[in-house]
Amino acid sequence: MFKHFQRVRHFSRSRLLCKPPIDSNGLYYGKFTKEEYDQAAKYVKDQYDNLANLIKGTTHIRENLDKMPAFPSIDRTKGGIKVENLSQFFEQTIKTTGPITLLAYMRQCLTHPDFGYYTTRNPLDFKTGDFITSPEISSMFGEMLGIWLYSTWLNQDKPSSINIIEFGPGKGTLMHDVIQIFNKFVMNKVKINIIMIESSSVLRYEQYKLLCTQHPFNSTEHGFNKSITKWNNEIWWCNTEKDIDLINESIEVPNYILAHEFFDALPIKSFIKQKNGWRELLVEHSPSVNNTQGKLPSNEETSNNDLLNADFHLTLAPNETPSSMIPKLNPRYENLPVGSRVEICPDSEFYLMKMIQLLNNNKGAVLIIDYGLSNQIPENSLRGIYKHKFVSPFIKPGEVDLSIDVDFQNLKNIAKNYTNVYGPVDQGDYLHECGIGHRAQQLLDKNSDNYSEQEKIFNSYKRLTDKDDKSMGKIYKFLCLLPKDSKPPVGFGGSV
Ligand SMILES: C[S@@+](CC[C@H](N)C(=O)[O-])C[C@H]1O[C@@H](n2cnc3c(N)ncnc32)[C@H](O)[C@@H]1O
Repeated sequence: MFKHFQRVRHFSRSRLLCKPPIDSNGLYYGKFTKEEYDQAAKYVKDQYDNLANLIKGTTHIRENLDKMPAFPSIDRTKGGIKVENLSQFFEQTIKTTGPITLLAYMRQCLTHPDFGYYTTRNPLDFKTGDFITSPEISSMFGEMLGIWLYSTWLNQDKPSSINIIEFGPGKGTLMHDVIQIFNKFVMNKVKINIIMIESSSVLRYEQYKLLCTQHPFNSTEHGFNKSITKWNNEIWWCNTEKDIDLINESIEVPNYILAHEFFDALPIKSFIKQKNGWRELLVEHSPSVNNTQGKLPSNEETSNNDLLNADFHLTLAPNETPSSMIPKLNPRYENLPVGSRVEICPDSEFYLMKMIQLLNNNKGAVLIIDYGLSNQIPENSLRGIYKHKFVSPFIKPGEVDLSIDVDFQNLKNIAKNYTNVYGPVDQGDYLHECGIGHRAQQLLDKNSDNYSEQEKIFNSYKRLTDKDDKSMGKIYKFLCLLPKDSKPPVGFGGSV
């Protein structure tokens, strides 16, 4: 067969190369004049050439690069589409690619280098910020964590050198109060290095101002920041958990890790179970769709209509996306009925695994503090927070804080394979076990002739520990990881 094919090809080529037969009347192939033959031959040759050019391509692709529609670019010099804010960025992206994943939407809203919520502002600013956190309410909060750190350090044979690592340190207030109290207890005799995992350069600088007054704010060869604190600790800043390994010495000494309201700021994926499998919720552009997020509390006033008109909305992917595999392959979601909605935070698992990896040589600890669910799968918790009010997560992208309920059950399930896990316990119980009642009383006594200061101390104490809906004592939970075979820590039923 193959030989036959070769022969046919050979025959055809030789026929093409042959001179045409001309008869005694000067007719080509006994039919055509020379002129007719030349015209037909030229036509056939042109057709061949066109075909060959089509196959090879007549232009160099790079010559046309800046004339082709480009992915939305921010700084347009040639071509592309000018984008001045995240709304335009998403609108153009969705026009080009179709609906985008919720995770991509959230990641850009939170940490886009030019327009992200955390990367462009200090959301905890006293006057202009959108929310307030426990360390900012009262220094008693950080002091209790400092006492806890001291008790854990005692239980681990008092290592002479430690790292304190904080994920998402905000204004640096928690680190400030923890170090202050820990140093007091150990009489400045422990060598402490500090590592701050912070994606926002604005907040990094706030942290630097609070923790390191006299020393310069330097950059390292890896593009991180470095300085010396006012207590003479070396302090580094890096962007993500992956960078920690690049910082000297971090692996060799015990790592004590804090993450307060960090996990709730990580992006999620969201899925709905359909009869034919899991379908991902994607973000679609829709200037006309009104916000219908179920989480908006009815007693919050949202008089400004701007806050109801969302530019984007969630839409269900018609088919399986590659991410549909995540709920499909996880036995945790297997028996959920059709119609169930779940939120999954892959980033939280990466961060958690890094924290676990940092519990080296049977020393160190991880303390995760956040709001979330102890024993349930998060369903529809994504919310926007803007000027101390809940709003749709799909308005003013990059200007509104986005947050989710932390899936403590998932964190626990993963961690228990590698470490001892304690909690989650309610913030009120943890703080009382660490001694916040005594500390509040001490401060009240100290201010016995200052009624307004006393009122402030008492109100902060109540706000941090009470378990009603308006306080933080029950809504916020503490989860602790210690190396295997550790004994239960203070705050979780243990003692020194
Ligand atoms: C809700 S604030 C909490 C701040 C602080 N822990 C407190 O309680 O006051 C979240 C913090 O995490 C940081 N952050 C958010 N996403 C991050 C990410 N992907 N990587 C590193 N830091 C992040 C923010 O810049 C901010 O410092």
